[in-house]
Amino acid sequence: MKKKALILTGGGDCPGLNAVIRGVVKRAELTDDWEVVGSIQSFDGVLHEPQEIVELNGSNVAGIHYQGGTILGTTTKGGPFAWPTKGKDGAWDFVDRSDEMIQTLKDMGVEAVISIGGDGSQRISNRLYDQGLNIIGVPKTIDNDLLSTDYTFGFQTAVQVATEAVDRLVTTAASHNRVIILEVMGRDAGWIALSSAIAGGAEVCLIPEIPYKLDVILEKINTRFKKGRGHVIIVVAEGAVEQGGGALSEVSDEIGNENLKLGGVAHKLLHDLKTAGCDVDMRETVLGHLQRGGTPTAFDRILATQFGVSAMELAIEGNFGKMVAYQHPNIVPVPFLEAVKDQNFVSPDSALVATARGTGMSLGDK
Ligand code: F6P
Repeated sequence: MKKKALILTGGGDCPGLNAVIRGVVKRAELTDDWEVVGSIQSFDGVLHEPQEIVELNGSNVAGIHYQGGTILGTTTKGGPFAWPTKGKDGAWDFVDRSDEMIQTLKDMGVEAVISIGGDGSQRISNRLYDQGLNIIGVPKTIDNDLLSTDYTFGFQTAVQVATEAVDRLVTTAASHNRVIILEVMGRDAGWIALSSAIAGGAEVCLIPEIPYKLDVILEKINTRFKKGRGHVIIVVAEGAVEQGGGALSEVSDEIGNENLKLGGVAHKLLHDLKTAGCDVDMRETVLGHLQRGGTPTAFDRILATQFGVSAMELAIEGNFGKMVAYQHPNIVPVPFLEAVKDQNFVSPDSALVATARGTGMSLGDK
């Protein structure tokens, strides 16, 4: 009988998930003794009654590497440690089903689990590993906020989409002499904002790691409009904060989704600039989930494929409790504990920030 690896995708989707799945399956098929199954919607497929487990093979993963999303589906709600259950009184309760799930996986004959997810998913994997599950992590997120890996796959695609947005906004802003504020994703990390602002040549970029001052932005706008005409592109990360202020966020009303919903900073900034006396025409664009959907760039396909192949190799070696990571030029296994001990933020002293400042871009702080 063949050994069984179970693969799943958890947390927000991002371009490249399917390329990982294909990489895992392709590598497993090079052996004679491994088969791969997928759990639908993260761990839910294992815990649901009836279970939702699909067989994965060379035929049904063929050509999926350039498709966005995930053929296995995903969720940001619940999970084995906090399974939403409705009580008799109709109120939601959250039940820890992790032991039951590990036993179920054993009963199914699963010898290795490959969990593709962001930092939340890696934390869950770490806890499951501590409880005895043979699990390997694969880091994904457009936010690029995971430690231990130079890049997460999905990030480059998001930057490409955001850069195209900047390119398109420049022509319309220049035609109308406007300030256009582009809000991009990234949660508490400014990677997408700063990268696309540099690639697109934005005049201002606001990131969570460098709180901004309104008067600095106003001065930049005034300088650009000194001769009466001009245009300014401001790329703002959804988690950007004004000095002394906080990020705009709200608690999710989706049962079991503990993530704060970020957003609204472009709208607030436009309003604040107006109130502060900015009298040029201004518009805002919120890029939203366009950054997450669609086909992955070649870089992300390659990285995702490398992660998939490496994760399966760790499973074959029996090297569990690790997350695969890209540390140029290698793909290396990193213990979960090391990978989740902190997050990866843009350092204000980094070369990327210095480059932005070196082009005359304002980061809103000075
Ligand atoms: O973590 C990825 C991400 O796209 C963030 O950049 C964003 O804040 C969040 O997910 C959006 O989550 P949702 O798709 O649940 O609205």
